[in-house]
Amino acid sequence: MVQVICPVCGAKLNTEDRTWRCEAGHCFDVARQGYVNLLPVSQKHSLRPGDTREQVAARKAFLDSGVYAPIADMLAELTAAEEPSAMLDVGCGEGYYLTQVQNRLPRLEGWGIDISKDAVRYAAVRNKRARFLTATASRLPFADGQFDVLSSMFALTLPEEFSRVLKDGGCFLQVTAGADHLMGLKSVIYPEIHRKEKAAETALAGFTLQEERMLEFDFTLEGSDAVMQLLAMTPHYLRITKEGLQRAQETQRLSDRAQVCFRVYRKNGTVV
Ligand SMILES: C[S@@+](CC[C@H](N)C(=O)[O-])C[C@H]1O[C@@H](n2cnc3c(N)ncnc32)[C@H](O)[C@@H]1O
Ligand SMILES: [Zn+2]
Repeated sequence: MVQVICPVCGAKLNTEDRTWRCEAGHCFDVARQGYVNLLPVSQKHSLRPGDTREQVAARKAFLDSGVYAPIADMLAELTAAEEPSAMLDVGCGEGYYLTQVQNRLPRLEGWGIDISKDAVRYAAVRNKRARFLTATASRLPFADGQFDVLSSMFALTLPEEFSRVLKDGGCFLQVTAGADHLMGLKSVIYPEIHRKEKAAETALAGFTLQEERMLEFDFTLEGSDAVMQLLAMTPHYLRITKEGLQRAQETQRLSDRAQVCFRVYRKNGTVV
C-alpha cells in the first residue's frame, strides 16, 4: 500500500479512518465523494487553483465520448509493459486516463492528484477503485519510492519530485501535444497559424529517455458543443480572442487530427 505523507509536516499519514492524521495532529477529512484535500492554504496560489469547474465538465464530456480512446489505449499498453503494482497520475484531471488504465489492469493500485478540487471531485465520483487527492505536483504527498509508474497527461513535468516518489527503476510516462496537434481547431480560432516546431529538449534530470512514440489519429466532431468542449481542454481556451471564440461557437462540424507524443523515461539508479 502506498504511503501518504502529511502536506504540512511530511510525517506519515494514517489513512485507515475517515479522517487522515499524522502524529503531529494535522488531520484531513475524506470527503463524501471519497477524495481527500491535501492542499494546505500555504500551497495554494489562488482561491481555486487549477482547472475550473467549467473546464473540468467540458473535459469529462469530451473524454467520455471516446474520441481520445487511442491515447488511453497507448497509455494502458505502455503502463502494462511495466507490470506495475502502483501508479500515480499527476494532474489527473477528472480521472479519465487512470480509470481507463485500471479497466485494463484491475489489480493496479491507482492514485491521482490534481490541484483542482473540482477535477478531483469528478474523478472520485467516477472511479472508486483509485484514490484521488487535491495536491500540488511540486510537493507530492507521498513518501519516497512508492510508485512503479508515474504519468503526466498533458500536465506538468517536475523531474526531481517525480523521481523522488518513483521506486528505483520506475518509469515516468510523459504525454504531450505534438507540434501538429489539433491544427483543424487552430485554423478555426486563429486568423493565422504559426506552426511552432518545439525544440526537442527531452533530457530530464534523474531520468533516461528510453522510448519515444508519436500517436496520430483523425477524428470528426459533430455539433458546436463538442467543438467547445475540445477547445476548453486546450491551452488556447485561456488566450482566445472574442472573434476566435465566436468562430468556434459557430462551428458545427470539425475534422481534425490528434498528434500526441509519448515518452518513456526510466528513473536513474542511485549514483555512488
Ligand atoms: C491540461 S489539464 C490535463 C488533465 C488530464 N491529465 C487530462 O489529460 O485529461 C492539466 C491539469 O493539471 C492540473 N494542474 C495544474 N497545475 C497543477 C499543479 N501545480 N499540481 C497538480 N495539478 C496541476 C490542472 O488542474 C489540470 O487538471
Ligand atoms: Zn503533519
